[in-house]
Amino acid sequence: MCGIIGYSGPRKTSPLLLEGLRRLEYRGYDSAGIAVGREGRSDNSLGIVKAVGKIAALKAAMPADLDGAWGIGHTRWATHGGVTLANAHPHTDCSGKIAVVHNGIIENHMSLKAMLEKKGCVFVSETDTEVIPQLIAHYYKGNLLEAVRAAVQSLRGTYGIACIHADEPGRIVGARNGSPLVVGVGAGEMFLASDVTAMVAYTNKVVYLNDGEIVDITQDSYSIIDRDENRVDKKVDEVTWELGSIEKGDFPCYMEKEIFEQPESIARAISGRLDVENSTAKLGGLNLERRHLSGIGRVRIIAAGTSWHAGLVGAHLLEHVARIPAQSELASEIRYRNPVVERDSLWFTVSQSGETADSLYAMREIQRKGATVLGICNVVGSTIARESDGGIYVHSGPEIAVASTKAFTSQLAAFYLFTLLVARMKDMSRDEGISFLSTLQSVPDLVRRTLAQRDKVQAMAKKYHKAKDFLFLGRGILYPIALEGALKLKEISYIHAEGCSAGEMKHGPIALVSPEVPSVFLVSDDYLREKTISNIREIKARGGPVIAVGVEGDDETKSLVDDFIPVPKSDSRFYPFTMVIPLQLFAYFCALELGRDVDQPRNLAKSVTVE
Ligand code: AGP
Repeated sequence: MCGIIGYSGPRKTSPLLLEGLRRLEYRGYDSAGIAVGREGRSDNSLGIVKAVGKIAALKAAMPADLDGAWGIGHTRWATHGGVTLANAHPHTDCSGKIAVVHNGIIENHMSLKAMLEKKGCVFVSETDTEVIPQLIAHYYKGNLLEAVRAAVQSLRGTYGIACIHADEPGRIVGARNGSPLVVGVGAGEMFLASDVTAMVAYTNKVVYLNDGEIVDITQDSYSIIDRDENRVDKKVDEVTWELGSIEKGDFPCYMEKEIFEQPESIARAISGRLDVENSTAKLGGLNLERRHLSGIGRVRIIAAGTSWHAGLVGAHLLEHVARIPAQSELASEIRYRNPVVERDSLWFTVSQSGETADSLYAMREIQRKGATVLGICNVVGSTIARESDGGIYVHSGPEIAVASTKAFTSQLAAFYLFTLLVARMKDMSRDEGISFLSTLQSVPDLVRRTLAQRDKVQAMAKKYHKAKDFLFLGRGILYPIALEGALKLKEISYIHAEGCSAGEMKHGPIALVSPEVPSVFLVSDDYLREKTISNIREIKARGGPVIAVGVEGDDETKSLVDDFIPVPKSDSRFYPFTMVIPLQLFAYFCALELGRDVDQPRNLAKSVTVE
């Protein structure tokens, strides 16, 4: 949440900061602002401009002559204080010489504020952030690095900050605790940002900061110190993302692009990871010995939102196929529960961004208790990816739309690979392995064929988008897909939707059924099909409209429901990949019909880096 960028170098600073913020907008879009240093002016003052709303509003507010030689920028997802100009970042000290942008929450800001007010500081915003520049000013004696170092010792909570001082040309000081910060190393220019998308147009050389580290940046150099003030020499990583992968291309929005990229993104997740000869999977990044893998007594998965739904599918599959007890739990719940960590359990943290605060803190807590935690992440170099004990990168490519789509199906691919690997170490025969593996190989094509239902789903969205409530129902491995369908619809169309196990329907949700409340059923062709069809009949008997996503050729279901979207017939264990596609498209087209901002829905941010 909140995007940060800093730049020191010869390019025009204001347009560069604006462009970086445009790329970071998915991290928050309540307000935005920049501060640039303007050496040479008689008063050496900082140039600051802010606007409520999106980056376009900031661009419109930007004076033509506002430029400087170095600067910082911020796009905000409000936590403390309303969405107002006064609360927009950057925030400054009373003199206006120090400017700070911040991502995170300063938990002790009230006591710091009281202390600073006693010393004569005047506060102009309702934010927790404003104590930071005031505190830095309190310690400032001509050296910004020294002042930031002193100030952060008093801060409790989470922060990724970038700070500048009007009298220290070209210098940016950044500090990290709990919120991501990355240094971009250019030739004769340096960047600092909350994630690499902000600077990938200029450099692919990056250095990831760890918690407790402070970086001192000038146009030509950067140096990092840790909590104990020791100098830290860090590896410079190379980002392999192409600039084109963070552009919309010919698509009207990122979500549509990302939905239609899924055949390729799933293929990338699988690529090079299948051992056809031995009908198993190869997952080099797990960092686990064969003995450890074959002795796993239980798998526990922690995640949030869509990633949690992928974990639910993974848990079902591991139990069903590999015969390993498995559970997927909400990171925000488990982290405060003091969970029992059994010695033979293997844990996974699933996260597209690799920065979700709840998932990260839950992972650290589980690691503290001695367990091995693997990451299933998309963003290379993200905090969860770096701090986990090993894992699987899903290689979806940058996912920019707030609603996760392609990362979800790639997370599924990671679980299918892992299941194949461990199942083959247990009871799965070579023949069963071959069948599982070849279905997995066919998934990109199955998804491509399902995407061909685009126009049919769009017509369905035109028919149903005025409904105020929806039920999404599935059983077994499709129950998490029902949850995911409901989440997608809620988050981008703002239509209320509930995902339920079809088996639970009669225990309460059926009371909602009426001619105004459509139900979306996921109908497999496995041992649960008949049960699901009975549930459909129960809804129809009560006058509820029913949409079914089912298997092509299932004429019985088709004749029973109001609208039917077929997916290609396959091994029923793989229907999560295909059946989620019409639900993603349905949410997308309903949102379009309702005129919603599909990529940046209200109140949300892509990566939830605060609790
Ligand atoms: C998905 O559409 C949501 N925007 C959200 O639920 C998301 O999946 C969740 O915040 C977890 O994010 P992560 O995968 O980056 O950890």
